[in-house]
Amino acid sequence: MEQEETLKKVEVNRLKKSYIERRTKKRFLSQCSAYEYCKVLDGLTFSISSGDFVCFIGPSGCGKSTMFRIISGFERPSSGSVQIDGKEVTGPSNKHVCVFQEDGLFPWLTARQNIAMGMEEASSKEALEEIEEYLELVGLSGFGDHYPHELSGGMRRRAEVARALITNPDILFMDEPFGALDFVTRLQMREEMVNVHQMFDMTILFITHDIDEALQLGDRIIMLSQRPAKVAWDIKIDEPHPRDLSTGDLRRLRKEIYYRMGLHVAL
Ligand SMILES: Nc1ncnc2c1ncn2[C@@H]1O[C@H](COP(=O)(O)OP(=O)(O)OP(=O)(O)O)[C@@H](O)[C@H]1O
Ligand SMILES: [Mg+2]
Repeated sequence: MEQEETLKKVEVNRLKKSYIERRTKKRFLSQCSAYEYCKVLDGLTFSISSGDFVCFIGPSGCGKSTMFRIISGFERPSSGSVQIDGKEVTGPSNKHVCVFQEDGLFPWLTARQNIAMGMEEASSKEALEEIEEYLELVGLSGFGDHYPHELSGGMRRRAEVARALITNPDILFMDEPFGALDFVTRLQMREEMVNVHQMFDMTILFITHDIDEALQLGDRIIMLSQRPAKVAWDIKIDEPHPRDLSTGDLRRLRKEIYYRMGLHVAL
């Protein structure tokens, strides 16, 4: 029992990643294999408990998406390791689902058919009913027959969230999923994410540039440094939802985050 409590869902241990940037001029044979390396991740270490909603913030280009690709198994690190449920990650898993910033719906399929892609078996009566439930859950009832181009940006995001949720993932990776949405729709999506996290027993890893979004959603915020990324600050947020960011600890925390990011604005 005690062991179960200490078992972490995700363990990231001294993760490093460098990309080959370009070859230096081949003036001498001995330089044939000389490359320049772009160091992206520099020994990232953290662990995440099961069921946590963890938001990642950090400067543009610091390596957040790279980190996600490695944790979700789509890319290999240069060194270090990632373990999920105590097992080394060696490739993607259908229990770990990603929602990215770019539109990820298949344009030639309707919203309903797109959501069905997340299911192993989608033709039975039960499966069709389940799809309708998920359409309703994300506020898309009545839009199941619409193609992506017939949906608004917010609706497309909702359909993507439904497609991810219907797979019943253990871990949901979201890389700036609402970045392209207007302010009000983003607020609505935030509310939906809080509800989704409370309803489903899943661990959520969420990248955002929006500090308020991180403060609204996260049980924890992990702030990354400039590239090569290290953990700059790891903050636990123990506030109930819905959260009021304009008062108390959250207001102070927001100020501190801005300050640590070098944004010396009066808030
Ligand atoms: N496949 C690749 N090959 C070479 N360099 C790459 C590759 N992928 C990412 N990089 C480099 O790694 C660095 C980090 O990129 P990454 O996309 O992880 O940043 P990010 O923190 O997600 O940025 P943003 O906030 O703008 O989305 C960048 O300098 C980028 O040019
Ligand atoms: Mg990115």
